[in-house]
Amino acid sequence: MRAWQLPAGSTGFDKLYQDTLPDLTPGPGEVLIAPRAWSINYRDFAVAAGKYFGGALTEPAVPLSDGAGEVLAVGEGVTDFAPGDRVQGSFFLDWADGPQVMGRALGDGKAPGMLAEQVVLPAQGVVKVADSLSWAEAACMPCAGVTAWNALFEGGRPIGKGSRVLVLGSGGVSLIALQLAKAAGAEVIATSSSDEKLARVLAMGAAHGVNYKAVPDWGAHVAREFGGAHKVVEVGGVGTLQQSMNALASEGEIALIGVLADGDPPHPRQLMMMGGSIRGIFVGSVAMAKKLNKFVDAHQIKPPIGATFGFDEAPAAYAHAWGPDSFGKTVIVRD
Ligand SMILES: NC(=O)c1ccc[n+]([C@@H]2O[C@H](COP(=O)([O-])OP(=O)(O)OC[C@H]3O[C@@H](n4cnc5c(N)ncnc54)[C@H](OP(=O)(O)O)[C@@H]3O)[C@@H](O)[C@H]2O)c1
Repeated sequence: MRAWQLPAGSTGFDKLYQDTLPDLTPGPGEVLIAPRAWSINYRDFAVAAGKYFGGALTEPAVPLSDGAGEVLAVGEGVTDFAPGDRVQGSFFLDWADGPQVMGRALGDGKAPGMLAEQVVLPAQGVVKVADSLSWAEAACMPCAGVTAWNALFEGGRPIGKGSRVLVLGSGGVSLIALQLAKAAGAEVIATSSSDEKLARVLAMGAAHGVNYKAVPDWGAHVAREFGGAHKVVEVGGVGTLQQSMNALASEGEIALIGVLADGDPPHPRQLMMMGGSIRGIFVGSVAMAKKLNKFVDAHQIKPPIGATFGFDEAPAAYAHAWGPDSFGKTVIVRD
């Protein structure tokens, strides 16, 4: 079978190479999957650069956490899946439900990666995909989709009808969050560095758009002009956190997700003044992935795919996702 790999000590996605690896067989409790589509997440660049949490890769590794495909075979003792089932991997293989479990994470160089024609996963880390999604759409869900779900609906301050939700930038997590929030009856405010992208985000249903380059104090702007956010989908991190605090409505929550922006650490005064809170998000559990897929089917949500590439074009897909024209999800599909 064909697989893309990163070498030990990889320093970037320019080191990707295609390889032929032996066909796989599922052992007891395992599921053999033939992925049909994959999607790229910001963290996949950190893995390729040797800058993910585990540091540099110590041996060649198949990358990517996100893929969706068909079950080819199941190992002894597996009763929840059968050949032909449409499935995705769970980003965290060992977090079934409840409090966070930091176990094996797909595509980090230690757990299996999805960017291959065959992958074996433990059955506990496999989730059936929403019937309404194509392969490419389903491949957007394991990381970006579940993260957006967790940010909006889990924890002590879930959003609902009438909530105001602020999403930062037009990346995968933010645009799926926009779609989920809209479907839940929330009003969405979106930021972007590009007016052209903002126009696309407004066409997706955001009520308001703010260019964060043109309006550097976009946090106060959101509070003043739109009444503040009950939830901020915070993908910037240190560099945007002050503005996100300034954007809060009373008792709003910042779902702290990303690390896209460097900058000065925030002063927490505004968080205190607004009775706000910050909740750390690390993707989510198998149970959250199941809830997300059910919600996606119920609301016929189609995740935003900005560009699609073939399996042999994986390096070009990475380059696109890294570049300025990236919008929503960049997807790879099997030819
Ligand atoms: N904690 C978790 O569980 C988790 C899960 C998934 C992702 N993440 C993190 O969340 C972040 C987003 O991930 P992603 O996969 O959605 O990324 P992505 O698709 O690569 O998003 C890229 C977009 O982010 C926007 N952006 C960049 N710098 C920004 C800034 N300073 N302020 C606002 N927006 C900015 C840009 O939008 P415009 O071009 O419109 O300006 C850019 O197009 C990453 O840091 C990723 O590592 C964390």
